[in-house]
Amino acid sequence: MAPSVSDIVPPVTDAIADLKLTATKEDKGPSYPFYYPYYDPNEKFPPTQVYEHTDPGAKADRAKPHLLTPETNVTHLSPFLGTEVSGVQISQLSEEGLNELALYAAERKVLIFRNQDFKDIGPDRQIEIAKHFGRIQRHPTSGNVKGYPEFHVVYRGSEHDMLKEIISDERINRTQWHSDVSYEKQPAGTTFFFILDQPAVGGDTLFASQVEAYNRLSPEFKKRLEGLRAQAESSRRRGGVVRREPILTEHPLVRRHPVTGEKALYVNQGFTRRIVGFKTEESEYLLKFLFDHIAKGADFQIRARYEAGTVVVWDNRVTAHSATADFNLGDRRHAVRLTPQAEVPTE
Ligand SMILES: [Fe+2]
Repeated sequence: MAPSVSDIVPPVTDAIADLKLTATKEDKGPSYPFYYPYYDPNEKFPPTQVYEHTDPGAKADRAKPHLLTPETNVTHLSPFLGTEVSGVQISQLSEEGLNELALYAAERKVLIFRNQDFKDIGPDRQIEIAKHFGRIQRHPTSGNVKGYPEFHVVYRGSEHDMLKEIISDERINRTQWHSDVSYEKQPAGTTFFFILDQPAVGGDTLFASQVEAYNRLSPEFKKRLEGLRAQAESSRRRGGVVRREPILTEHPLVRRHPVTGEKALYVNQGFTRRIVGFKTEESEYLLKFLFDHIAKGADFQIRARYEAGTVVVWDNRVTAHSATADFNLGDRRHAVRLTPQAEVPTE
């Protein structure tokens, strides 16, 4: 199976040399060079230990008075997922407001916050806010920021196209549905993604509700999935840095959200490798059906579109997503993800 977009690793590069290549008369380079992807071949992390996670959404007031104030405007994009939010700054939220943000992200699956100052508040404050939602994953292979391994950098421009490294020209399209780092023993929960440079048109993120994907199945089919476990794997990428050795983990194929109680399909094309206890053909057969079901479900998907100042917050436990590489490389796309790890998945 093809690696996930989030695991694409270019060869170790010299960031300064790259930036010099980028800067021309027409193009002054990335707007936020501090967050240019950084790869240190000597950076090593020990195996990740399990930690006790309590979801902040569990402490939230269901009415969300600190998040959804009279100044806050919300527009739902689909009955199943996706809400645009304006009139509130994530950076100004109190502890209660952040708890409500966790709950609202779980309920609506994806929140698209407009006109945020988040990209300008500095790395320490960005990390401090994201930490409220769990210990932040330090990515084993992807670009991070020098001195700040908590940042996962997404970059696509004429001098550095991360997608080109893994998506073969033999593919008809470059859609790659996945849930971030689902190979971790404690995969991602409430996840933050803020844009620094966005193309004039395109570069959206596709999101699907894994709760609705599960709900669409027949009661008989749901019964067959009950109790099944899947293996997910991270892997060593060709020629790239490896800060932590790849791992293979097992998790339920259907998981229950600890706060909303909703059940969600928890398989994804990016990292799910096989169904435990099934023979190879049986596993491929069932996974192909589930991957196709998620990919074809346009009636439980949305597109998140980026503007300057957009921060997208989604709950990786109940969604799948894919980048859309539909824009010209002359239009740089530069974004940063902070990935708090949530509970060990349970059914
Ligand atoms: Fe991703």
